[in-house]
Amino acid sequence: MNFPATRLRRLRRTEAMRSLVRETHLHPGALIYPLFICPGEGIRKEISSMPGVFNLSIDEAVKEAEACASLGLGGLLLFGLPSEKDEEASGAWADDGIVQQALRTLKKDKALDSLVTIADVCLCEYTSHGHCGVVARDGDHYEIQNDSSVALIAKTAASLAKAGADIVAPSDMMDGRVEAIREALDAGGHEQTPVMSYASKFASAFYGPFREAADSAPQFGDRRSYQMDGANLREAMREIDQDIAEGADMLLMKPAMPYLDVIRAARELYDLPMGAYQVSGEYSMLHAAFQRGWLEPERTMMESLLSIRRAGADFIVTYFAKDAAKVLA
Ligand code: PBG
Repeated sequence: MNFPATRLRRLRRTEAMRSLVRETHLHPGALIYPLFICPGEGIRKEISSMPGVFNLSIDEAVKEAEACASLGLGGLLLFGLPSEKDEEASGAWADDGIVQQALRTLKKDKALDSLVTIADVCLCEYTSHGHCGVVARDGDHYEIQNDSSVALIAKTAASLAKAGADIVAPSDMMDGRVEAIREALDAGGHEQTPVMSYASKFASAFYGPFREAADSAPQFGDRRSYQMDGANLREAMREIDQDIAEGADMLLMKPAMPYLDVIRAARELYDLPMGAYQVSGEYSMLHAAFQRGWLEPERTMMESLLSIRRAGADFIVTYFAKDAAKVLA
């Protein structure tokens, strides 16, 4: 390097200069806020490990959604806590399921037209055992069945599209679900509904707080026979290839911060719109540090989001969406 002729610090001297040469930007329209919808009325129950995040009854969810719309957020990702759970997750695909009801209500509210409503498609919140698919048991041995799960997942996606979801987002990691969902959507007259596949989803300890929020912890075993091994980047690319071949319109990578290299690799290989999910544990660990005064909340939050954008994500699903949009306003 030809120091002193080249001095990289010249472009860092003032905020105006730094702003001019900034390579990565955040904007509220590329942030998606997750909502956890529960039965009842007037319910706003905070999740103990996720400060500022709530289980919301539909009436409260509408208020939350209106706040998100006025902050200019891009969309909402909906999860449901059904009043009852069973072996075949009937609450996931029921016409009057909790998320289906929420979608119908949200879609009537003109103030929410600027938000894209994304329905998470999975069975784990609706099964009595908490697994993302159908369980076959044989004595002590159990197996999460692929193909019978896919049939229910496709049915769930079609039901959510019918209720008004703008996008369906399968997060179960069964093989062949994207193709089955595409077929079920088309058969139901929803050929314009995009599929955003959680193409690369790892079996992660960072989902811990979500399982409290969505009451979806597996009652036995774990998710490692369907979600990916955290060690495998090449396999993540195969998952993405497969989902694109099956008809995925957009990709979602998850978790975000512990897997930034996977996001970067996917960005370089694929041209589809791609988001990343900054998951519950990423949010909780930062909040735990904020509470102790160990990290500066605003700067750390924005830096965490910037790192995900810089890795290559077009949009971010994050529990910080509202807080970040306030900073960006
Ligand atoms: C459902 C689902 C999970 C998350 C999103 N969709 C939980 C899981 O796979 O166990 C996690 C999101 C988060 O941790 O914020 N399968």
